[in-house]
Amino acid sequence: MKSSNNFYTDIYSFFVLKKKINKVRMENIFSKLKIDSTFKTTSYNRTNDLNIKLKKHITKYFTKKITLCDIGISSGQSTKELYDHLDKNKINYIYGFDKQINIKIYKLNNFVFLYSLKNELMMVEYDKYCLRFRYFYFFKKIEKLLIHMFKYMNIKFKKTNVLIPDLEKITKCKFFEQDIFDIEKKYSNSFDVVRVTNLLNYSYFSKSKLKKAIVNINKISKENCIVLINRTTNKKKNTASFFRKRRGKFELLEDINGGSEIKDLII
Ligand SMILES: C[S@@+](CC[C@H](N)C(=O)[O-])C[C@H]1O[C@@H](n2cnc3c(N)ncnc32)[C@H](O)[C@@H]1O
Repeated sequence: MKSSNNFYTDIYSFFVLKKKINKVRMENIFSKLKIDSTFKTTSYNRTNDLNIKLKKHITKYFTKKITLCDIGISSGQSTKELYDHLDKNKINYIYGFDKQINIKIYKLNNFVFLYSLKNELMMVEYDKYCLRFRYFYFFKKIEKLLIHMFKYMNIKFKKTNVLIPDLEKITKCKFFEQDIFDIEKKYSNSFDVVRVTNLLNYSYFSKSKLKKAIVNINKISKENCIVLINRTTNKKKNTASFFRKRRGKFELLEDINGGSEIKDLII
């Protein structure tokens, strides 16, 4: 288990003690966290080129303060980078939505078990090293049994979230667990800008599911809303499209590197 540095995680220190850890370790942790068919993979400065473009569109189309929604935020690293890049006087609020933000962690001697709030085992760490392959799947098979064992042994979990600590200090950023396929009605017609990066990909979801997500994006966006859909390729290139909502429909504003793979479903 200790033979490869790639297995190093230290999830207790990061998620519970909220200690800062270096870039490589942070990216390593999130690349291993799976939620349904998607991963929480994220990385630093992933959308810098798009942040510059988005700022230009915001300056061009909005004179008032805007409310922005970022969907599928993972650790919130790319949300923080967007916030840092935008003109603060132009921001009312940034809402970060993700299907899963809250988690719970059990610690048993040198073991740390990271669970979703629905009691799905998401990661196991032993002595700061992430257990993978057969070790992890062994524990996954007994995930419910382990919960009973923790209760029996009176081991309490710590409820926490997966957000980077820096983000929680920004008062203009708010975070909510929301499913892009089932966004609460109260958010209808709420946002001036909606950004979805590395979530609405054909590799993750079927065409019909992607269409459903687009209908929901339309519902939460106001007239004149700017929508940015992006997928970062394995070569770290952003393939993105910017849209603007006009008379209830999305019009293409700009394609980056050939545009979003789902743009035909949007216009
Ligand atoms: C690959 S990460 C993208 C993170 C970040 N946007 C980026 O580009 O670096 C995908 C994120 O989408 C979230 N996600 C998966 N299914 C979702 C759903 N149905 N609704 C909202 N978020 C979802 C995952 O939890 C994960 O945090």
